[in-house]
Amino acid sequence: MQIFLNNRKSNVDSNLKFGGEIDPTQRAWIEVSGKAIESNVRKLKSKLKNNCEFMAVVKADGYGHDAKVVSENAIKGGASQLGVATLKEGIKLRSFGINVPILILGNLYAKKDLLMCFRNDLMPTISTIRECLICNNIGKNNNLKFSLHLKVDTGMSRLGFECNQFVQQFNNIKSLENISVKGIYTHLACADEKNAFNPKSSAQLQREKFQKLLKLINIDNSQNIKIHIANSAGMILGKDFHFDMVRVGLSMYGYEPLVKTNEPLYLKPALFLKARVTFVRTIEKGIGVSYGSKFVSDRKTKLAVVSIGYADGINRNLSDKINLIHNKKLYPQVGSITMDQMMVDITGSDDIEVGSTMLLLGSDGKQSISPLDWADKCNSITWEILCSFKNRLPRVQVA
Ligand SMILES: Cc1ncc(COP(=O)(O)O)c(C=O)c1O
Repeated sequence: MQIFLNNRKSNVDSNLKFGGEIDPTQRAWIEVSGKAIESNVRKLKSKLKNNCEFMAVVKADGYGHDAKVVSENAIKGGASQLGVATLKEGIKLRSFGINVPILILGNLYAKKDLLMCFRNDLMPTISTIRECLICNNIGKNNNLKFSLHLKVDTGMSRLGFECNQFVQQFNNIKSLENISVKGIYTHLACADEKNAFNPKSSAQLQREKFQKLLKLINIDNSQNIKIHIANSAGMILGKDFHFDMVRVGLSMYGYEPLVKTNEPLYLKPALFLKARVTFVRTIEKGIGVSYGSKFVSDRKTKLAVVSIGYADGINRNLSDKINLIHNKKLYPQVGSITMDQMMVDITGSDDIEVGSTMLLLGSDGKQSISPLDWADKCNSITWEILCSFKNRLPRVQVA
């Protein structure tokens, strides 16, 4: 079979490493700990039901961490499959020589995309009979079976076959000779809600609906079809949600998916966002800082100008609400965050100078700032904060 690959590189910039150090003039960057990803996967896997597989969800460039680094380290930790959102994301992983099964979680509806999917040995998510027939034709033309996963909509109202039509449609699909159904899955809409453990919660009702459907189509182990429902939060809801595989994103990156948990997982955040101080100045009392002068100093104030801004993906609504860490101490950001820079009140510090590194996300000693803290402050969610960092920030793999 001909495999078409594209040769784009990952975002990880090896030129940034100088004997383990970052180029001292690099203005801002993201460090990604491969070891943290590996250890998180290992820890999460140890909580799974026996023989349950772990699909590492590495869409959106590995939630902004770099899909290559995340995939390789997740596989080291025991992930046996990967989930991406788009055809291009899947092709990119194949170009890095990654050869575990890869499921495309988004919908491919064009024949040419399904053909590329087949040629790159990627599995599409299928939600209609029309797409099944296209896949069957592609398989037939190549004298092979096209591997795919079927999705059922049990309450998300996004992708998937309608529940009440699925039994009949599945019987039709079974008669197609050139497709191989490798999985049947659904997606939870409210797994991270406070009441999700409650037997009447939407997540539990979705699980029951899915289970009833599986009974009706009479799946048995000999068919080797992987059944899956759980994302990070779903996985924590218990072994009833594990089936044959879990699809985990957020917690693999080191963040608890539930606001409140009885049993913390002690995961390790893999991402450290850092930026350099490029200027230091002292202003008198009563002086405005940044656009709109919304912050006015109430005393003589020492300011550091830090070279990172909203064009790097820092939400402007975080202006005046976040802290940065230097040498295990917190310093408040002041004034509006600008496109490429932000100001930080470093009054009282004597160890911050031009070229010093400030930590925006991650931990240093007892000080720790999580994307969840930022999400709470700008009406966002941890997922969105992680995915918002732009390519202007090189990703650097660290231990
Ligand atoms: C279909 C599907 N499965 C699994 C996941 C992983 O979710 P989480 O990051 O909450 O683990 C996602 C993420 O959005 C998804 O869309």
